[in-house]
Parts: sequence; structure tokens; C-alpha cells
Amino acid sequence: MSNRIHTLGGYIHEYQKSVLEPENFWSRVADSFYWRKRWDKVVDWNFDEPKVQWFVNAKLNITENILDRHLFTMGDKPAIIWEPNEPDEPNRILTYKELHREVCKFSNVLKKNGIEKGDRVIIYMPMVPEAAVAMLACARVGAIHSVVFAGFSAQSLADRINDCQAKMVLTSDGNFRGKKSIPVKAVVDEALAQTDTIQNVICFKRTGTDVTMESGRDLWWHEEMQGISEENKAEEMDSEDMLFILYTSGSTGKPKGVVHTCGGYMVYTQYTFNNVFQYSSDDVYWCTADVGWITGHSYIVYGPLLAGATTIMFEGVPTYPNPGRFWAIVDKYKVNQFYTAPTAIRALEAFGTEPIEPYKLDSLKVLGTVGEPINEEAWHWYHDHIGKGKCPIVDTWWQTETGGILISPIPGVTPTKPAYATLPLPGIQPIIVDSEGNELKGNSVQGNLCIKFPWPSMLRTTYGDHERCKNTYFSNYKGLYFTGDGVKRDEDGYYRILGRVDDVINVSGHRMGTAEVENAINEHPKVIESAVVGYPHDIKGQGIYAYVICDLANRSEDNLKNEIKETVSKIIGPIAKPEKIQIVPGLPKTRSGKIMRRILRKVAEGDTSSLGDTSTLLNPEVVDEIIKGAQ
Ligand code: PRX
Repeated sequence: MSNRIHTLGGYIHEYQKSVLEPENFWSRVADSFYWRKRWDKVVDWNFDEPKVQWFVNAKLNITENILDRHLFTMGDKPAIIWEPNEPDEPNRILTYKELHREVCKFSNVLKKNGIEKGDRVIIYMPMVPEAAVAMLACARVGAIHSVVFAGFSAQSLADRINDCQAKMVLTSDGNFRGKKSIPVKAVVDEALAQTDTIQNVICFKRTGTDVTMESGRDLWWHEEMQGISEENKAEEMDSEDMLFILYTSGSTGKPKGVVHTCGGYMVYTQYTFNNVFQYSSDDVYWCTADVGWITGHSYIVYGPLLAGATTIMFEGVPTYPNPGRFWAIVDKYKVNQFYTAPTAIRALEAFGTEPIEPYKLDSLKVLGTVGEPINEEAWHWYHDHIGKGKCPIVDTWWQTETGGILISPIPGVTPTKPAYATLPLPGIQPIIVDSEGNELKGNSVQGNLCIKFPWPSMLRTTYGDHERCKNTYFSNYKGLYFTGDGVKRDEDGYYRILGRVDDVINVSGHRMGTAEVENAINEHPKVIESAVVGYPHDIKGQGIYAYVICDLANRSEDNLKNEIKETVSKIIGPIAKPEKIQIVPGLPKTRSGKIMRRILRKVAEGDTSSLGDTSTLLNPEVVDEIIKGAQ
């Protein structure tokens, strides 16, 4: 496979080259793709506006690189293996030829229904191959997809539709997850009552649950696909045309639409997939993420399929019908690379080793983690019991905004170290700064993680609000991309990610803005004010702890807490429900009215020994009350 690094010396050489001659380096990587027109310039950038362009003026269609390019060389190779929620239900395998056919047909369905280059299409679907077909068909006709995780509420879905003024929603009737069957189309209907840009909804039948189909608006996937042509010529896209928007949470109440573009995203996701997973042509690769998150975009769909890999899509959950399900799937398909979240590892570790015993797991070569810091204990458990001590673990650090993995071991090539993402991949220039923006040079330093040179798959803007992109990522430290993460570089020069330094909580690897959760809590009519912080959670990494001031008249505390949880679930989705709610008489505030979250965080962590000087607060007396009522 092209551009694969095989040795430590090779890594050092490639890394140095990527820093000293980035244009030559990336130009060589990009040469292995099919471009309709080559670029005039490799990169054009400044981090002040910010303006970043890769492979300037090149023309391509990413799906020609995924599908058409592979047709003759690997048409009969499985592209997607789909494993259903129920182990007894037949699986589905789509070869590259079949995936090509499905994508071409669905591209024609999109065009027939008025979708044109540049239109925004929302994908709100379960983990079925059609979700990948939907993404690729959008990319093929030049429409910009925005996948919304199917666990988000109608309100969250409506906000995203309105923000990007989407023209179409692709969805399903329902979604099987473990023992549950979740209505999906009904959520779409509720969302559409609050939007006015959607012209059509195309609904894939998965669960057979009853749905309401609005005539003139709603169409069935299978009916639209019937009799439609299998011929489709991909739209010509500029390298910097938008490929997709993916909404993610930040410090403010409103999620932002991170924008990725065609050329750079294509080059970087394939390059990193090949190197970080050391995929060989007959391997079977499995990433357990959901397509609703960036990991699903870059490392279930785009990266692996660009590389001509066989990628597994799993519809269900790790514990259904029992906590051995992941391992059963690994043995069933002889999975070689397995990529999951620390939360899943910790949740399965809690069941002990018994669920693993029936399985051989001897096909595994590389294990990966993503989304949140992995604690050393979970790392060792994964290494010893799943990898049987012989599979390197790639702890991959990256973000929705980075598009692809930036810091990670290369298995068998660079060393691993428990709980460390270790070294930057070629092309990535991390820098650690203190809070004033001074660079902390050398080893054994700790500070804020920034990146000082662009890489091909970085975000280009936040949809409809470039100022926000500039303020969030490029204004904290002049000339640098600020990640929002704290980091340590140890005595050997390895990077360890310490977690967010902003008002973002990472629950089971899902990003939540504290302001976003507070806004949802405040929607409850009895809530006067609230403050949300994260606290250490054994399985989820972090849990949500909410301090709430409310009017308790005629209500029991327990009822009110449950109602608040339901409100959050309804407004954002079940993933944002606070684990702990404490009703408080007041919130500690500075004299200028700012909530002292530091104190609330300490109390939530159960550490009240070092709260610092509270006497300068506007209301120091509430601190004692809060400590007394803490859970
Ligand atoms: O705090 C970091 C954490 O997840 C954040 C990015 O979240 P999101 O955009 O949802 O993307 C998650 C999947 C790429 C980061 O700012 N994070 C991600 N990977 C790691 C991590 N923290 C520690 N170690 C990691 N390997």
C-alpha cells in the first residue's frame, strides 16, 4: 500500500521531510490518488483569517477514489460487512462493485429529487450500510452531507437543519439498539415542524415500525431505488469545495458546524488509515464508532474505503445479547484491526474476563482507542486480555476539527506507552504553550496543545460563521490552532493528552458543552439557574454533575430531578442527561456575577480540601451549603 511507513527510521525520515519540505511531502502522498485535474499549489494558508487551502485548484470527486478507482482491481472484495443488532439475523456484505452500484443509484435518486451540487442534506440514520451509501451519494453529486447522530433529539435535529438550511433529510423508520427499537422517523417528523427548508425526506425501512408518510414530502428509499439507472458520472468538485458539515459542541450553548473539504480530507484520512492501522490488503478492519461522529466519518467510511479496505459496520451495542458480543464479532469475521473507545473497554472490563473466554481473538493484530484519555488500567486490560499481549495499542488523539488522527503510535514502527498518544504523525507540528502563549520547549513540560502548521484535513470554517471559527481556534494564541486540550510532553518526548481545558465535558467520548446542557436544564419551568461541570466517572471517563437552583413548591426533589433529566433528554438527547443533580440554594459567584466553576468542579470531584479563598465571593455562605448537600 502506498505511503506506508514500515520502520522507525522510516518514520523519522518521513517526519523530518514533512516538516522541512511539507509541499513535497504532501504532493508525493497526494500523487497516489485520482485527480481530474492536478493542483497548482500544494498549500496556501494563514492562521490569522484563518484561510487554509490544500491542493489549490485541483479537481476530483472523492467517490471516484473510493469506488471507480477500485472497481477493476478489487471489485469483488467486500467493502462493507454489516453485522446486525441481532446475532441471528443474516449479515450483509457489499463488495466494492455492489457499493459502487448502490451509490450510483442513490446519487440518481438524489438528483431526481432536485438535489444539486452545494445543497445540504441531513443524514439521520442508524448504523446500516445505507448510511454509508447516503454519505457517498451526497459526495458523488456534490451535495454537502451533515450526519446527525440518531440519538439526538428532535430539537437538536431541527437546530442543525435550520443552521445549515438543509433541503433534504435521509432517515429510517426505526433503529434497533440492543433490546430497544427506537423510532427515528417520528423524531424527524417532530423536528420538521420547526423547520421550513426541507423539501423531501427519504426513509429507509429497517424496523418495519409504523410511520406517517407525508404525501409530496416523504418517500421510501426502496421505492425510489426501484428502476433507477445504475449509471452515474460523479460531479467534478474543487479540492476546497465542502464535503461535509459535522456539528460538535463547544464552550457556547450552540453547537457549531465544522466544515471539511474534499481534497485535503481525502488525502489525509487515507494516509493516516494506512499508517495508523497498518492495513494489509486481505485484512478485515473494524471501528465500533457510529457514523454520527467524526470517527465514523473518517475511519469507518472515508479512510478505509479510500484505502480499499474491508470495513465492518455494527448496528448494535457491546453488551447485547451479552458482553461477549464484540469478541464474537472479532472471531466471526477474523478481525485484524479493532478500534474502539476507552468507555467501551472500561464497560466491558467491568464484566471480568469470563465473557472473553469462549473466543480466540487470534486474528487481531492492532488495537486502537479514540475519543478520550485511556487510563493505564484499562490500557493494560485491553492489551493483556484482548490483544493477548501481542497487539500494539494505538491511542489515537484527534478531534472533529482535525478530520483525522494527529498524534498516535504507528504499530510495529514507533513505541507505545500506556495512556500516551505518543508521537505526532508526519505532517503534524504540535506545540505546547503556557496560558500566555509562550512556547514550552523541550521535554518534561505541560500546557495547552496547539498545532503550528496546517495539515490537509483540518477544518476550514464553522458553517455560516467564520468569525466563530477564528475566535474559537485561532485567536487564543496568535498564529496557532488551539485544540482546547491540555497535554504533557514527558521526558522521552511522548505526548499524553490530559483532557479539555475549556468548558467542554467528554462523556463516554461524546463532547458536551456545559453551556449547552445548562441551557437545556434551564428550559424546565421550575429551574431558576443551573451550572454544570464534569466529574470523574469510572466507566464514562467523565459524568455530568448539575447544580440547580429551583422552585421546589409542590414538588418532591426526586420528581423534579427526574423531570430535569427528561427535559435534557428531550432537548439534546439521552447522552446529555446529567448523572447527578444537586438542588442548591445558590451558586458561588464572583462579585462580577461569574459562576466559580472551579469550586463546583472540586465539590463534584469530592475534593473539598483545597477550595482556595472563598471569602471574596459575592455569596461565600453558599459554598458550605453546597458541600453539605453534595453527592
Ligand atoms: O479532548 C480530546 C478528546 O476528544 C476531544 C475531541 O472530541 P471529538 O471532536 O468528539 O472527537 C472525538 C473523536 C476523534 C479532544 O479534544 N480525545 C480524543 N481522542 C483522545 C482524546 N483524549 C485523550 N486521548 C485520545 N486518544
